[in-house]
Parts: sequence; C-alpha cells; structure tokens
Amino acid sequence: MTETCDCVVLYNSAATAEKAGSREKIYPANTARREVGAIAEILERGGYRPEVIAVERVTAELIRRLLGLAPRFAFNLCEEIDGDGRMEMAFAGLLELLGIPFTGSDSFALGLALDKFRVKQVLGAEGIPVPRGFLCRPGEEPGLPADMKFPVIVKPGREDASLGVNGDSVCSTESEVVRQVRYIHGVYRQEALIEEFLRGREFNVSVIGEETPEVLAISEIDFTRLPADEPKIVSYRAKWDETSAQFGATTPICPADVPEGMKERIDSIAVASCRAVGCRDYARVDMRTDGTGAVYVLEVNPNPDLSPEAGFARAARAAGFSYADIILRISESAIARGDRIEPATYAF
Ligand SMILES: Nc1ncnc2c1ncn2[C@@H]1O[C@H](COP(=O)(O)OP(=O)(O)O)[C@@H](O)[C@H]1O
Ligand SMILES: [Mg+2]
Repeated sequence: MTETCDCVVLYNSAATAEKAGSREKIYPANTARREVGAIAEILERGGYRPEVIAVERVTAELIRRLLGLAPRFAFNLCEEIDGDGRMEMAFAGLLELLGIPFTGSDSFALGLALDKFRVKQVLGAEGIPVPRGFLCRPGEEPGLPADMKFPVIVKPGREDASLGVNGDSVCSTESEVVRQVRYIHGVYRQEALIEEFLRGREFNVSVIGEETPEVLAISEIDFTRLPADEPKIVSYRAKWDETSAQFGATTPICPADVPEGMKERIDSIAVASCRAVGCRDYARVDMRTDGTGAVYVLEVNPNPDLSPEAGFARAARAAGFSYADIILRISESAIARGDRIEPATYAF
C-alpha cells in the first residue's frame, strides 16, 4: 500500500472455469485483462498516482483497504465476482455505499443491462425499435407463438460476450429451437431469449459522456468472408477464439460506411438507448438491420471492454481521440461526480 495513491484501478480476472457441458471454451483473448496495465500507465502519465487492486472476493480487508486509501475515484473494471456477472452491479453498489466515486455506470444501469429482455421492454416503451422476442424460462416448454417467423436466434437472457451463442443459435425449425433452448437452460441455468433473426448489417456504436452522450463512431462487422453455410452472427468463437475461421471472418470496419441519413438514425438510437438504460461515461450499443435496412437495437452494454485493441478504443481513434484521451476523460467524469457528492462517513 502506498500513502500517495489518489485513485485505484479495480479489476477482477475473468472466470477461467468453463461451465459444465458448455461449447463456449476459455481462450486467452477473453481472460487477459489487457486494459488494466494500460489504464494504470495512462493515469500515471496523466499525473495521477493509481494503485491497482485485484478484486477476487469482497472481504472485510478489501473494504478496510479502500476506506483507508480514500481514493478520489476508482477506475472500476470489475465485471463479475467469482464468475458471477450479476455481482457486477453489486460491486458498483458497494462503491456507492462506501462513497467512492467510480468510472462507468452505476449499479442500477449495470443490473438492468444484464437482463436483455427487460432492456428490450424499456427501449420498446421509449419507442426505440427492438426485434420481437420472448423468454422461455427453465422448466417451461419451448414453443413459438403462431405468428413468429423463422429463422429465430436463441441466446441466454443474461450473459454477455456472446456466451451461449454458437453455430447452432440461429434456428429454422421448431426442433432446433427446442434443442437450443435446452442447451441454454442446461448449461447457463437461466432463461433463453428467442428473438426474430435480423438478417441485415451489424453495427456496434460506441458512446462517451456522462450527461450528454456523444457517439464516437459506428463500427460494422464485415461478414462477407464467412462461409455461406455459417450464420452471419458474432458467435462466441468469432469473438474470442483468435485461431478460428469465424474470428478472421467477422472483422470490424470502423468507421462504417453508412449513408448520412442512416448514420443520423443510428446515432440518435444509440444516444436514446443509453439514456433509457441510464448508462454513464461510456457504453456501446449493438444494433442490426432487418432485410429492409430498418435499424434495431440488440442490446446496450454499459462499461464495455476498454482494452486498447477492443471496439471502444477503436471507435475513439476513428473519432480522433487517443486511448489516453478517453481514459482520462472517463476518469475526469468520475472525479467531477465525486466533487458533487457528500463523502460517506462509515465507522468500519
Ligand atoms: N436478433 C438477432 N438477430 C441477428 N443476430 C443476432 C440477434 N441477436 C443476437 N445476434 C447475434 O449474436 C451476437 C451476440 O448477441 P448480443 O445480443 O449482442 O449478446 P452479447 O451480450 O453476448 O454480445 C450479436 O453480435 C449478433 O451477431
Ligand atoms: Mg453484443
């Protein structure tokens, strides 16, 4: 522990245990937390004195240490505790209770965004287009409403990083849906979300800013090199298995080549989606188009991956910002919030 620390970088190593029966394996790319060292270095060069703390479990010692350090802010990179993504919101809630200002979204937005179906309901209520979908909970028999058209995609209701999304996720028959729903229930132990499959283009839209979110850039996934019999989706292997054919054939193009009218529409949908979920500081909205080119939101990601090689940093560079610019801007946002809130007083 140093006495001179004025901020902390809090992170946890990603889960390294595969779920029993899962086809989604652990790959180096999704366990390395390359952003941790990069962010600490930028903070140092920016004049801060960061202390990097690995959070594997929440213990009395960790709480005492955080209170003892009393940092001006925490750069919060914690995504799960003990492999449980639902603890991401709980950890943000702990920082809120301790009165430590932190980067990124608050506990509520993190919790809401984890539940893809609820996000669809919230966005839909705001008039933001989302693909039709419904839930099949464990114990329920999968069955499609009579007016639901094939193909559909079946994915876990509360995961991210394309967990549970593989070469069989896009289903064209009822029996394929049943098989895939059983896979989600059995391995991921949660509800399956069955959604209308959007066959068009895929965009990832990175947004920065606390009160007034701004779109940095629109990135598009180029599926043209995927073999014709592969579904045009960013499956788990496409995202993480750097040696797979799918990885090499789902390359992001940033900035995307979109006509001006469509760009404005995508930008305004991204900003409205972040506002609806209550995202703060930085976020990424995933969208797709249908066969007619109409844009829909798939999901909203508060606190997306900040690794220097990940999509958010790429979008920042496309918008003319360096990696350091965005890391410092996100930090300043947390500091400004800290200046506005009363310090908490706890007698731990
Ligand atoms: N309704 C859909 N239509 C077409 N493709 C979809 C749909 N939903 C998800 N996908 C594909 O699956 C990928 C992962 O789904 P997403 O909802 O973004 O979850 P995750 O949180 O795992 O990123 C998307 O990037 C996209 O390629
Ligand atoms: Mg996504």
